[in-house]
Amino acid sequence: MAQWGMMNQSSEDASVSRGRNARGLPDTLKWAGGRDGCLRLVDQTLLPGRVEIRSCTTVEEVWEAIRGLRVRGAPAIGVAASYGLCLGTRGTRHEATEVFRQKLRAVGEYLCAARPTAVNLGWAIARVTRVAEAAGDISAERIWDGLLAEADAIAREDADTCRRIGEVGAILVPDGGGVLTHCNAGALATVAYGTALSVLYAAHEQGRRFRVFADETRPLLQGARLTAFELDAAGIDVTVICDSAAASLMASGQVQLVVVGADRIAANGDTANKIGTYSVAVAARQHEIPFYVAAPRSTFDLSLADGTGIPIEQRPEEEVRGGFGLDVVPPGVRCYNPAFDVTPSALITGIITEAGLISPVSTERIARLVNDAG
Ligand code: MRU
Repeated sequence: MAQWGMMNQSSEDASVSRGRNARGLPDTLKWAGGRDGCLRLVDQTLLPGRVEIRSCTTVEEVWEAIRGLRVRGAPAIGVAASYGLCLGTRGTRHEATEVFRQKLRAVGEYLCAARPTAVNLGWAIARVTRVAEAAGDISAERIWDGLLAEADAIAREDADTCRRIGEVGAILVPDGGGVLTHCNAGALATVAYGTALSVLYAAHEQGRRFRVFADETRPLLQGARLTAFELDAAGIDVTVICDSAAASLMASGQVQLVVVGADRIAANGDTANKIGTYSVAVAARQHEIPFYVAAPRSTFDLSLADGTGIPIEQRPEEEVRGGFGLDVVPPGVRCYNPAFDVTPSALITGIITEAGLISPVSTERIARLVNDAG
């Protein structure tokens, strides 16, 4: 939690402010300009062709950036929503405290609805909202300063957490082997380092040499556009494959490890991640290849006993029909576009968190790690 003593400091001092992230690319997202500032983020819909920074000065712009996948990845949308709360309540910081709190609740509900699957979104909104609720009888302006400090704290912690995930998981990366990943769980999906890709960055830094296969990740190609982009920028050997090539690549002996991210992990370890992850896990089990999920503790949702309760985002048919300038489905034919699927815990070799490795995966081990270290 942010300290109340920091509230009078300018947010610029307190925020994650590295300028460029560890991979030599611009910060994925960052608050700039202190109390009257804005959220600046890399518009990921334009990558890899253009690296363009988008400034969000209103909560509606943050909502649109999340919904439209300009900022995406579970931890990154949590951080974006935290700053969205600040933007959405800034206009009421001179009102009565109760008016401010009502506005905060309404803005939180609005942001939460932008994307339903990643639990980090609701987790971050709840964490920032708790600061206002616990503040007692102080002015709305002082509460608002506390919100910004808390959003800064969430952003800072995300970078540290991701770094630790990498340190925990690096040992699993086979020297001289092949690693397959799906979607993008890298620096672009977090404040820095990523989750699944943090494991690869840490292994690379330790001198392990390995080859990464990035599933292209239909329909929006996060693997081809984003994972390949950031791994290549970091000097890691990466090859993009069609999603449908993963199983045959495993059969040919070129994959020794699979590591992916997560959007929500139920109490028993069932894991929601980008659509297609489940097929990768099934193929990995068939070929006896270890399948790991890398995620911060904020991605666990212990209120859900298993994955059947995880809400799966349905996205527009047009993303399957076309996108990137070419319609590939006959007009009038329907498309089905769930953005995520759920991999049963029985297919998961282990879950790599900032607090340690959970392997084998069980409800008891998850509860112990998430609660004890929390
Ligand atoms: O639809 P996206 O691009 O937001 O989906 C992202 C993923 O599925 C990631 O693997 C997940 O959010 C983990 S990011 C560290």
